[in-house]
Amino acid sequence: MIDFNKAYDILDKYNQTHILKYFDELSDSEKESLLNQIELTDFSVLDFLENNNCVSSRGDIRPLGAVTLDEINKNCEEYTKHGLEVIKNNEVGAVLLAGGQGTRLGFDKPKGMFDMGITRNLYIFQCLMNNLLDVVNKAGVFIPLYIMTSEKNNKDTVDFFEEHDYFGYDRNFVKFFIQDMAPSADRNGKVLMESKSCISLSPNGNGGWFSSMVRAGLLDELKEKNIKWINVFAVDNVLQRIADPAFVGAVSLSGCQSGSKVVSKASPDERVGVLCLEDGKPSIVEYYEMTEKMRTMREENGRLSYNYGVILNYLFSLERLEEIVNEKLPIHVVEKKIPHMNDEGELICPETPNGYKFETLVLDMVHMQNSCLSYEVEREKEFAPVKNAVGVDSVDSARELLRKNGIEL
Ligand code: UTP
Repeated sequence: MIDFNKAYDILDKYNQTHILKYFDELSDSEKESLLNQIELTDFSVLDFLENNNCVSSRGDIRPLGAVTLDEINKNCEEYTKHGLEVIKNNEVGAVLLAGGQGTRLGFDKPKGMFDMGITRNLYIFQCLMNNLLDVVNKAGVFIPLYIMTSEKNNKDTVDFFEEHDYFGYDRNFVKFFIQDMAPSADRNGKVLMESKSCISLSPNGNGGWFSSMVRAGLLDELKEKNIKWINVFAVDNVLQRIADPAFVGAVSLSGCQSGSKVVSKASPDERVGVLCLEDGKPSIVEYYEMTEKMRTMREENGRLSYNYGVILNYLFSLERLEEIVNEKLPIHVVEKKIPHMNDEGELICPETPNGYKFETLVLDMVHMQNSCLSYEVEREKEFAPVKNAVGVDSVDSARELLRKNGIEL
């Protein structure tokens, strides 16, 4: 382990020596713990604050069409048949991204533990497991499910699954792995502290899921199981179709290296990332990166040219994931509410965003693919995100959509 002087030098390089302000007051074990944190933390992410957001300038952006709902309806039988064969061959695994802190929802447990039910319990995790079980029942095989948690929520998540007997899933097909953390900083770029001996660390975004899986030793298992495709999805879409046979079939038959579920934009101004082409490769452009012209441009048939919004449900080939595992993803600087210790040593839980977290995002992995099948799904049937407590993409709007899909609450 590094000593005080070494820790000071590291911090000095990044203008963060305030982290050692209370060092003399700490017990031996706290001192050891803080030095350990300093050694393990990657402070280089702070450099990205200077550029505000490092996402490098964009290449040549062009629209990318999708396999539309009409085409999918026409070919549904063929896609589903093929997809089911791939699933029955045990070639599909699923990864649930559940390491986020869900600060917008303001629920103090892992988001998946939130209860969507009204007259009965219906937890978000339960909704997802029910959806996955639909496919298991059709295919007659269990799909290996890997759940990414963070150090902050791993225990709660694992205990919850245990307590609920994996919601009827075969527990032998469920594994948990823990993602990495990154420091968070205040508006002046100073790393926040949770206590005198504890740096405020937060999960480093959902982009590191595959490298974290590899570090957790799960690559060998994926290979032993002969998994070829991994369906990555977010915890908060309660209508999420996981390992959807028609989607798996369509991507596999298309010869594309990856696939993304998309929904038609509700309006030109909808705040959603759009799947398009950048320098001839698939890529996602965030709503705030789009020019007015891009937002409103239409094709001859009247459809928006940049029409297909991503819903965080991707299918990646394991072969490609292995090829890109060491490639660096861009770092995004995100404003969040970050609990921290103030100058008086009290823990503050802010009501509004007070600083920055540093995240890599799974959507940037799409640009590392040579091709991506954009696969349209019906928003009302497959997209009910629970991001906020009220308003847009909230518990209420998701409940409404669950009801519309015949799910008793
Ligand atoms: P969000 O972008 O909604 O972030 O995550 P969040 O941290 O959960 O929520 P807010 O912004 O603080 O309200 C999209 C998906 O990525 C996962 C989340 O759990 C969710 O499924 N995620 C996010 C991770 O697994 N790890 C992270 O570090 C961040």
